Amino acid sequence: MKTIKEELENLRDGDLYPFHMPGHKRNPDAGSMAGYMDIDITEIDDYDNLHDAEGMILEAQKRAKRLYGADETFFLVNGSTSGVLSAVSAAVSEGGLLIVGRNSHKALYNAAYLRKLELRYLSPVRVKVPGGGFLMGAVDPEEVEKKLAENEKAEAVFITSPTYEGISSDIRKIADICHKYNKILIVDAAHGAHLGLHEGLPLNAVTEGADIVIHSVHKTLASMTQTAILHVQGDLVNRDRLRRFLRIYQSSSPSYVLMSSIDSCIGDIEKRGDEIFGGLLEYKDRILKETADCKNLFIAPAGIISDPCKVLVCARDSAITGQRIYDILRLEYRLQPEMAGDFYALMIITGYDTKDGIERLIAAIKDMDIRITNEDIVKEKSELKKAGINDITEKESVINTEYPKALFPIYKAWDTEREMVDITTASGRVSGEFINLYPPGIPLIAPGEIFTKQMIHDIGEYINADMNVQGVCISGNGDRKVSVLKSAD
Ligand SMILES: Cc1ncc(COP(=O)(O)O)c(C=O)c1O
Repeated sequence: MKTIKEELENLRDGDLYPFHMPGHKRNPDAGSMAGYMDIDITEIDDYDNLHDAEGMILEAQKRAKRLYGADETFFLVNGSTSGVLSAVSAAVSEGGLLIVGRNSHKALYNAAYLRKLELRYLSPVRVKVPGGGFLMGAVDPEEVEKKLAENEKAEAVFITSPTYEGISSDIRKIADICHKYNKILIVDAAHGAHLGLHEGLPLNAVTEGADIVIHSVHKTLASMTQTAILHVQGDLVNRDRLRRFLRIYQSSSPSYVLMSSIDSCIGDIEKRGDEIFGGLLEYKDRILKETADCKNLFIAPAGIISDPCKVLVCARDSAITGQRIYDILRLEYRLQPEMAGDFYALMIITGYDTKDGIERLIAAIKDMDIRITNEDIVKEKSELKKAGINDITEKESVINTEYPKALFPIYKAWDTEREMVDITTASGRVSGEFINLYPPGIPLIAPGEIFTKQMIHDIGEYINADMNVQGVCISGNGDRKVSVLKSAD
């Protein structure tokens, strides 16, 4: 059986003229992007159909399923976003109850909105990085057990593992607990498509017993942006419902370029997985070793960050903020990080990085470290101290475990009439929007939850410290407004 790409190349090189979509007709004169379109088709005879796969797409999905050891694998052309929406919609009835990690991606909250779900939150354990600040870590299996015992009506548990920063939960234990209660475990492993594919990598949720696992193959493997896969295991998930929702949430014109990109990516791992992941592990090892003597910066250790793709360049004892590390790496060393946390910049590495790229990163970290020692960057340090950044790094409230009380579920609050009020007057009122501290993007408050004085104070501190708070409107004169429900007052 040929790969999707080989079939598309046959079509490109053959004599079949396209009187069908897409409108560019694979014509090299169809605009400046035409060079990228010569294998871009839609469903035509003999080319299978993602929404009812029985030919080349089914074969490609089977190759992926074998690689991961899944019962069934589906290609996604609308990212892990469409996988999360479909998984949650298939696993939980409309208006049903779902137990979720509060650190879930916004796709989960959007699924809760669309399907009118009630959510009960799990609080991932906070981990102190020695010398640095706190990270949102793994989900505690005991908490999963407690929440399941308290919420008989819950139909599923949804957790994120590995996290954005590369921390994995004990999926085997959590899956066993969920199955003891006959509940579905969905693992958003958008950042873990590479896990389990080499003996030096942490285990993949697919083989650890999760019922549905979602991977963004575009995040840590060599596949095009927007590509993802969804795996199903066992009998708990109704596969027909899952297929139905995959059809609903995905384009009716799935891109063959994207699908063939997933297929090629899987093929490359089959052929060169050992080399690719061996290379990744060597890169991570080299970065850790080469920067081990740095005084002001350090790389978060593998004991905390088990995913080798995640390199957290951390400030020791608040020597500098994560945002400054991010800015300096980007502007002065021309290295683009993935994101900035309060005490670190997150760099993603994969087995597809070049040696030169990795050497540049090592050299930049060592050089920056010396500059901090030589006080070249320390001027900012005192300014940051003045702005209270040190306090925030050390203060545990950056990641709250006490969630505000919810008066309404998200779907009710988002669809109720709302108004903008000054945040100082919001105490006791019901939020009409998400307010997120980004990163890590965990909602401080969700629509339907009640503002407390403490929360308003904390949000003010985050903004004063120049952290990225989403969901607060700050006007030119410095007024801070938030959305609250009209009807609840
Ligand atoms: C944990 C998590 N889940 C899901 C998604 C959505 O993935 P995609 O961008 O592939 O739609 C993301 C994206 O960053 C994510 O971080």
